[in-house]
Amino acid sequence: MSGKDPYGSFHLALNASGSRGRPEGRRPPTEWLNMGYWKDTKAFPEACEGGTRTLDIGMVPKLIVCSTALALKVTQAGGCKAGGSVLDVGYGSGDSLLMQLSHPSVPRPARLTGITSLKAHYDRSLERVEDLRSQHTEVNLYHGDAIYHAPETEHPLDPASTSATFTTILALDCAYHFRTREDFLRQSYSRLASGGKIALADICFSTAHGTVVNLLIRQFGLMPSENIVTVGEYIGTMERIGYVDVKSEDISEYVFPGFRGFLAGQGVGWRIFSWMIGGLYASGARFVIVSGTKT
Ligand SMILES: C[S@@+](CC[C@H](N)C(=O)[O-])C[C@H]1O[C@@H](n2cnc3c(N)ncnc32)[C@H](O)[C@@H]1O
Repeated sequence: MSGKDPYGSFHLALNASGSRGRPEGRRPPTEWLNMGYWKDTKAFPEACEGGTRTLDIGMVPKLIVCSTALALKVTQAGGCKAGGSVLDVGYGSGDSLLMQLSHPSVPRPARLTGITSLKAHYDRSLERVEDLRSQHTEVNLYHGDAIYHAPETEHPLDPASTSATFTTILALDCAYHFRTREDFLRQSYSRLASGGKIALADICFSTAHGTVVNLLIRQFGLMPSENIVTVGEYIGTMERIGYVDVKSEDISEYVFPGFRGFLAGQGVGWRIFSWMIGGLYASGARFVIVSGTKT
């Protein structure tokens, strides 16, 4: 799992871009690691998150205002409810967990569970969540693969688990990595409460996706080939599993061009990444928000 995971700490530089005057060696105030929703912003953290939030930058409190962007869109699609039980999968350095615990537009869950694949991200998230621990939300974080593999016992998607089911499962810009996404959707279904929702910000492909997609994906190990599906196939899989009220929103035009342009402006080292994002979009990749409900 970790050998294939392309992530690390490169995203800190992206979060820091634009926050001039930050003391050398100090971490940026956010540590987002998704492709963002760039409709109303040119700033990386705002594109990743969205909404209104007060961030404490140095000694001066600063209010950052922007409209709904990626993390908030997925959270809203997941129908989060006050007092609910949320599973956040692929949480990276933990900003989406912090959102659940502190964002003014997100209802506070009674239970927040997370699983992500990189140990360094898990450790960092534990640290960050610790600072926001409240008596209202019980938090349980795991380090591991999103997919449950028997005979594992400590896993939120263990079908034999006797712990309470989830009212919302969120996968923000990560399920295309899972081996496989279909297994994840199936396991999630069995651990959702009746009436519970899953919401994903994910990548799929137009019917006419080209050989560039296959080349980029094979070259960069972006996703298993089983996950290269069209939106229609994605929805069909969810319905076959049993999800109802399955919805998808294609937000590609607000994701790929904005992210590609932002990366291109970050200097020489980022150009190859920018080129890869542009190539994916040009050859049929689609960025979608997908949600479904368990009856
Ligand atoms: C694009 S990042 C998104 C991170 C976070 N959701 C955010 O928005 O900042 C994808 C995340 O999924 C994690 N990931 C990739 N494959 C995974 C797997 N098989 N199981 C669990 N997490 C995985 C990566 O380590 C990374 O943290």
